Order: sequence, then C-alpha cells, then structure tokens
Amino acid sequence: MADSSTPRPRATSNRSTTPQSSSFTDYISSGWAERSEVDVVARDQAAFAADRRNRLSQRFPGKRLIVPAGAAKVRSNDTDYPFRTHSTFAHLTGWGSDAVAGSVLVMEPTDAGHTATLYFRPAAGRDTNEFYANSDVGEFWTGPRPSLSNVATDLGLATLPLAQFEAVLDLVDSSALIVRDADRDMTDQVDGRRLLMADSEALEHDGDDDLSRDLSELRLVKDSYEVGEMRAAVNATQQGFNDIIADLPNIVAHARGERLVEGTFNRRARAEGNTVGYDTIAASGPHACVLHWTRNDGPVTPGDLILIDAGIELDSYYTADITRTLPIRGSFTEIQRRVYDAVLEAADAAFAIVRPGIKFRDIHAEAMRVIAEKTAEWGLLPVSAEESLLPDNQYHRRYMVHGTSHHLGIDVHDCAAARREMYLDGVLEPGMVFTIEPGLYFQPDDLTVPEEYRGIGVRIEDDILVTQDGAENLSVNIPRTADAVEAWMARS
Ligand code: GLY
Ligand code: MN
Repeated sequence: MADSSTPRPRATSNRSTTPQSSSFTDYISSGWAERSEVDVVARDQAAFAADRRNRLSQRFPGKRLIVPAGAAKVRSNDTDYPFRTHSTFAHLTGWGSDAVAGSVLVMEPTDAGHTATLYFRPAAGRDTNEFYANSDVGEFWTGPRPSLSNVATDLGLATLPLAQFEAVLDLVDSSALIVRDADRDMTDQVDGRRLLMADSEALEHDGDDDLSRDLSELRLVKDSYEVGEMRAAVNATQQGFNDIIADLPNIVAHARGERLVEGTFNRRARAEGNTVGYDTIAASGPHACVLHWTRNDGPVTPGDLILIDAGIELDSYYTADITRTLPIRGSFTEIQRRVYDAVLEAADAAFAIVRPGIKFRDIHAEAMRVIAEKTAEWGLLPVSAEESLLPDNQYHRRYMVHGTSHHLGIDVHDCAAARREMYLDGVLEPGMVFTIEPGLYFQPDDLTVPEEYRGIGVRIEDDILVTQDGAENLSVNIPRTADAVEAWMARS
C-alpha cells in the first residue's frame, strides 16, 4: 500500500470545486481554536476485551495475529454502506459503532504471549487539507476522529497511527495470520509479503482459517458484559414491537403497510440503539411463508396474521433476534390459534430441555418431535409422527424447512466459522446465547394441506441464555402465548 492512511480515490474529481489557490488554503488552515483533549475513561467492555485477547493469545503462541476492522464498503458509485467493523475486531477491541474505518489490531508475539496494538487513522491536523478536501474521511465531511491517546484510554489498548502499520507489514513472514474476510486490501498485502518470505509459488491459508475458526469458537460462550448487552438489545427490541402494535391503525390503512412496520421498528432502533441487526422481516398474510421476507411491500390486512422478525443492534453490535406472529385484527381465528399453539408448544418443549451438558442439536430434535406430532394429528402427514421422525422420512419438515436454533451475539447468526462439533454437535455451556424459533408454514399452493391452512405462517422466536443449571428466556416478557398476544394488542 502506498500509505495505509490514504483512502482510495473517489470518482468525484470531475465535479470537485475545492479552491486550490494559496490564498484559500492559507486562510482555511488558520484561525482555529486550540483543540483540547476530552477526558475519557476506559469503557466497561475494555477489561472483557483484554481477557478475550488473552484467551486468543494462548491458542496461537509465536504467531503474529492481524485482525483488521475492515474498510467502508461501496454501496454504489461514491456512496458507502454505513461502516461496520468486522465482528472479530469488535469482539477483541470492544470498539463497535464508533470505530474508525480501516483500523487494524495487531497481536505481536512475545516470550510471555502477545502485546496488542491498535493502528488507526487519528484526527488529522489543520496543517493538511484532509479536514476540508477529503470527502471520505475529512472532519468537515464525516465528523471528527478521536486522538490516539483517547482511544488508548477508552479501549485500554496501545495505539499507533495507521501509517505505521507499514512497519508491521515489513515484519510479516509465514508465521503471521490474518482474518481474511475483514479487509481485502490488507489481506492481499499480507499474502504478498508471506509469499515473498516463503519463496514459493503458492500459499496455503490453513492457519488463517484456524484463526477465524478459533475466533468464532471464542464467542460461543458470552461473558457477563455480553450477556448484559444481549438483555439490553432484547429490551430495546420489545419497545420496537410495542411501537408497531401502537401504530397498527396507520399500518393497516397504508397500501404498503409492511413497509410501515419496518419503518416503525427502525425508528425505535435508531432512537434507542444503533440500528437493526438484520433486515426486518415484516411478513403479512401468505408472505409469512417466505422465511426471509424482507421486501416488505405488501399490505397488512385485518383477518390475516403478520409475522415480524426483528432485532435491535446496540452500539456495541450485540443484537436481539425476536419473532412474534400477531393477529392483525387483534384476535386469532380458530385455525390460526391451532397453528400458533402448536408452534408455541414446540418452542416450550425445546426450551424445557435446555441446560448445560445437552447437545445443541437436541433442541432442534425436541421441537421437531412436537411439529411432527401436531402435523400428524391434523392428518397432514402420509405416515405417523413416529415414522416421519425417522431420519430417512422427515415429511413434517415440508412445513418447517429451517433449523430451530442459531447462536446469537455480535452477529445475528453468531459464531458462523465454529466447527460442527462445537456448534450443531456441541455441548451446551453456561453463558451460551441462542435462539429457539420453531415455525409452521403452509404455502398458499400446498395441496397436501386443507385449504383453511394454506397461506398461514407462524414463527415464535426467543433469545435464550444457558444458565448454571438450566436456561433463561431473555425475551419472556415479550408476550408469547396466544392469549397474552391478544391482551397485548388490546392494551395498545
Ligand atoms: N432472524 C432471521 C434468522 O434468524 O434467520
Ligand atoms: Mn433467528
């Protein structure tokens, strides 16, 4: 890289009007008040992040570990998506939505473990033209950046200017490992350097993959800071659902009511947290049978159900992931309630077995037992529930093709690079947080079910914490039973 602190050029030079005259540059560079340092203290998460780095250090003795935050991603032309650091970077630094794009954490091996240094682009001085002439990172364009010393105190980490990351690259050899998918340019530079040092034509990435895997597995058990954030995210999400119910008269009156559901939830997210952890699913009527319905362009019609799958992500990036299915008119029809109660029974049965020592996959098996029994009881299956549950049959899965649970945390589908033996076949430990989200979806054109079932989709999703001797449903206060949902809607 020419200089790590130089952002890529944008295609806007054809309309740049920035004056170049020395009169202007002299004038705009002077006349500014002295900057005073803001007093900061270490954020709550700093000590937890240090402990996470220590645990990582123990797994990779003698290895130089490079964890980039990632760069801003282009949405189109010269507009970017809102910047979000790579999840592993956020986990190891505690720097979330206020992180500076392009930063990188380096863990340098020592005899005693590693020393960690955070490289980032600090506030630029008035002696450069960056603050007014650089629309990517200039202070007049995107806001001020913190100083090296403030970030060092805030995160409890040594800090250096990003430009000095060049010196780290010069040291990179085959013992260096990088989180590959965080920053493509940085990964290319590290690859190039390792190739040079290895004096070979090809480079294996096995070590990098081990790093990503271990970073994912480190996140399987949440620390007390993370559990606190998950609780806060769930509580903020509950407010979002309350807002949607209160707004239902407007939503029903609008031709694209689903969009208003999304907008109302998003308004709460922006006001109280940071953003949403994933695109809100606002699926009314038969749209509920599309598992990830995010187009959200349909009406919300009284008499139908609406499935809302939404989660607020806090500034720390921890997100909730909650689904509730509501009768738009305020009360369930008999058939809607029958389907709803079956899904609730599956969720409750799955929750009832959660405790340390069971396998993650047992949760899904328990939910599927109920789904098979119910669909068999209603005469929907060509065989008995028992036969359907045999691995070679699984007829009931026609009505719920997705899994029952996924880990939850900084990512809505957290710990994605963990090995199967640690995830699906893994054993539950206190501090794990995951969803339980069974559903039943009867497609509008499904000839295997009586007409009255067609177009009904129900999912109930809660966020679950494994405790020392069982489990806690973090979202238990968001009404779950059919009666409680009706009462919730009547209150609003
Ligand atoms: N909330 C969407 C999902 O879990 O896939
Ligand atoms: Mn989910």
